[in-house]
Amino acid sequence: MHTLLWTALAASSLAQQAAALDWATAYDKAEAALALLNQTEKAGIVTGVTWEGGPCVGNTYAPTSIPYPSLCLQDSPLGPRFVYPVTAFPAGINAGATWDKQLLRARGAAIGAESKGLGIHVSLGPVAGPLGKNPGGGRNWEGFSNDPFLSGVAMSETIQGIQGEGVQAVAKHYIGNEQEHNRETMSSNIDDRTLHELYLWPFVDAVKADVASVMCSYNKVNETWTCENDELLNQIMKTELGFPGYIMSDWNAQHSTVASANSGLDMTMPGSDFSEPRGNIFWGDYLIEAINNGSVPQTRLDDMALRVLAAWYLLGQDEGYPAVQFNSWESSDHGGHAAVDVTGDHSKLARTLARDSIVLLKNDGVLPLASPASLAIIGSDAIVNPAGPNNCSDRGCDVGTLAMGWGSGTDQFPYLIGPLDAIQEQASADGTRVVTSTTDETGPAASAAAGADIAIVFINSDSGEAFITVEGNEGDRNTLDPWHNGNGLVQAVAGANKKTIVVVHSVGPIILETILAQPNVVAIVWAGLPGQESGNALVDVLYGSVSPSGKLPYTIAKKEADYGTGWVMGEIDDYPEGLFIDYRHFDHEGIQPRYEFGYGLSYTTFDYSYLHVDVSVSPGPATGLTVPGGPEDLFDSIGEVSVSISNTGNVTGQEVAQLYIGFPADAPSTPPKQLRGFEKIQLTPGQEEEVTFPLTRRDVSYWDVGAQAWVVPQGDFTVYVGASSRDIRDYDTFTV
Ligand SMILES: *[C@@H]1O[C@H](CO)[C@@H](O)[C@H](O)[C@H]1NC(C)=O
Ligand SMILES: *[C@@H]1O[C@H](CO)[C@@H](O)[C@H](O)[C@H]1NC(C)=O
Ligand SMILES: *[C@@H]1O[C@H](CO)[C@@H](O)[C@H](O)[C@H]1NC(C)=O
Ligand SMILES: *[C@@H]1O[C@H](CO)[C@@H](O)[C@H](O)[C@H]1NC(C)=O
Ligand SMILES: *[C@@H]1O[C@H](CO)[C@@H](O)[C@H](O)[C@H]1NC(C)=O
Repeated sequence: MHTLLWTALAASSLAQQAAALDWATAYDKAEAALALLNQTEKAGIVTGVTWEGGPCVGNTYAPTSIPYPSLCLQDSPLGPRFVYPVTAFPAGINAGATWDKQLLRARGAAIGAESKGLGIHVSLGPVAGPLGKNPGGGRNWEGFSNDPFLSGVAMSETIQGIQGEGVQAVAKHYIGNEQEHNRETMSSNIDDRTLHELYLWPFVDAVKADVASVMCSYNKVNETWTCENDELLNQIMKTELGFPGYIMSDWNAQHSTVASANSGLDMTMPGSDFSEPRGNIFWGDYLIEAINNGSVPQTRLDDMALRVLAAWYLLGQDEGYPAVQFNSWESSDHGGHAAVDVTGDHSKLARTLARDSIVLLKNDGVLPLASPASLAIIGSDAIVNPAGPNNCSDRGCDVGTLAMGWGSGTDQFPYLIGPLDAIQEQASADGTRVVTSTTDETGPAASAAAGADIAIVFINSDSGEAFITVEGNEGDRNTLDPWHNGNGLVQAVAGANKKTIVVVHSVGPIILETILAQPNVVAIVWAGLPGQESGNALVDVLYGSVSPSGKLPYTIAKKEADYGTGWVMGEIDDYPEGLFIDYRHFDHEGIQPRYEFGYGLSYTTFDYSYLHVDVSVSPGPATGLTVPGGPEDLFDSIGEVSVSISNTGNVTGQEVAQLYIGFPADAPSTPPKQLRGFEKIQLTPGQEEEVTFPLTRRDVSYWDVGAQAWVVPQGDFTVYVGASSRDIRDYDTFTV
């Protein structure tokens, strides 16, 4: 089985860039190492040592026959968890909102560098599941966008960043873990086409980017646990996508010894349940027993160990890798104090990412601020939790300004610059008088607002992982309204001040209709989950030292029901919406969103001209040899689209040009428009530049269930280029 794959790999790697990781050599080394291991050692490197059994959140047994360590696996997707000091980067959803490939790569590299410095072999991220089909899904903010293309590009850039530093990345959670309620018992019943075109899509990018590992999720798919689902693991991930790395379980997502092994699981984590005394170990000695009694073939254990070893060699972790520099369990609140400071100058990158992720939703000309005489700063979200930014373990409370969600996808803030801290610094330089009301009480808010030229009111909305309930929200959000009576707070402020600016810190969309109904709300700034540099990044945008350049990575609806999806209370989600989530649904149903996918204002304006489409592709299925990601020819270039963009305003700014494709009628029931390209470009006033969107065969294919292949349909395709999914500036067609 491997020989065929490696021949294709060797051939394809010639065509790729020289820096591509070399699985073939890694497998040669792994084969040699495997030959030296006895049965106990093989089982040991695929089995966790129990929860809290080692310094990291996941640890494996170290063999003595080869110089291979107890592997250290550590959360989280926004920075190393349970250790300090580290950098608290903006969350995945903000990284997605930058639409900036270079920043996504740099963020991955910085997380990789901190992980390596700490001796972490395996960084448990990035996240493409949940994809985010449910706007209130608790962990959506850990991932980048509910659009599979944007998510896929972000996955690829992040993985290349992390792995470029020599750290193994993990694409998680595979697959259909779209809500927190009942996540460990429910079944996501996803039809084959929807699985391929939405939920699997970003995992394809991850595999294509040579991700070392994939993590199977808590839920079932079609009534079978994902971690013992032969169709998902053996057939789709390992055969169809040709994934050469290893599949690990989410923490305690394994439910069997034999079925999981035979279905393609390669590593179990953490090797025990979370109870005291630790129990429920499915592998280790039981895996050996299952081989001895003939229910699991020896070749399967060899394959598991081979994959785990190959990933380790792939990243060069056999040479000079640092020892683990912390113990996660040193303090139940803060994790371990690192023996080294790995943060370097990452605060600068954290600020740039936070700044470039801010989406300006509305601006009647009040922004950027120009040394106002007085400012009222209002709301508990304007200040850092007085008990400290890390006061709630795993950030499981919503006290003070919101800068990350809660659960395992968090890390420790080394510090948190609150909005008020940063604004006060700017105000004192400008001689601006600042009045504050830093609770969410409406009376004091109105009084403060009445006494100032401009009022800035802060509201938020939080969510996280199911193991913590915050203010009655069991992971998923109960509503899409702002928390802490945010609508009432804004009404009170806008009732007292004619220039009210609303700043939103949120895990995802909130319904803004009440706020927009206040005529005195003259600007809305969406700051998402900005991480440690929150206040500084906000001041950069509010005062115009940079023009805002973030774009929404999801749709903001006028009402929650408009999404047509939402987390379910029961044990089954049949995914009845199919392909039609987020803007695909709004476009299909002709529903007007409040702020569409891809939307975001700037302090300048951009013109689009000279759209040029140069595409040539043959119809039919991709049939090439399997390389990591799928058939080789699926990734073939089919040409490019280009457009000229000019800055027609008065300040320097960045624009995210977006390319959407409309499929011909020959492709059955396909969304009207699907994102297939984006480029972020910075332009000075008057400057004009051409951007090009390279297209591959994959970009114009749909998943043909009958053929079990990616197929390019015949007919007229439409190419839309614009500043959002609805602000289309020009379009053209090509015919296949
Ligand atoms: C396998 O090797 C380990 C050392 O890594 C040793 O402790 C164990 O006894 C060996 N097991 C067998 C069955 O030889
Ligand atoms: C789940 O069931 C649907 C409906 O029968 C089918 O289209 C799909 O391929 C199945 N998926 C998996 C992973 O078994
Ligand atoms: C073989 O051993 C495994 C591990 O103890 C066990 O789960 C499985 O039921 C056994 N199968 C048979 C047929 O004895
Ligand atoms: C949170 O703050 C309270 C009150 O100041 C304090 O007693 C507690 O120790 C703090 N916990 C953490 C984890 O910082
Ligand atoms: C840009 O500058 C010109 C000339 O000073 C002025 O007329 C125009 O209103 C400015 N545009 C904006 C958007 O500020």
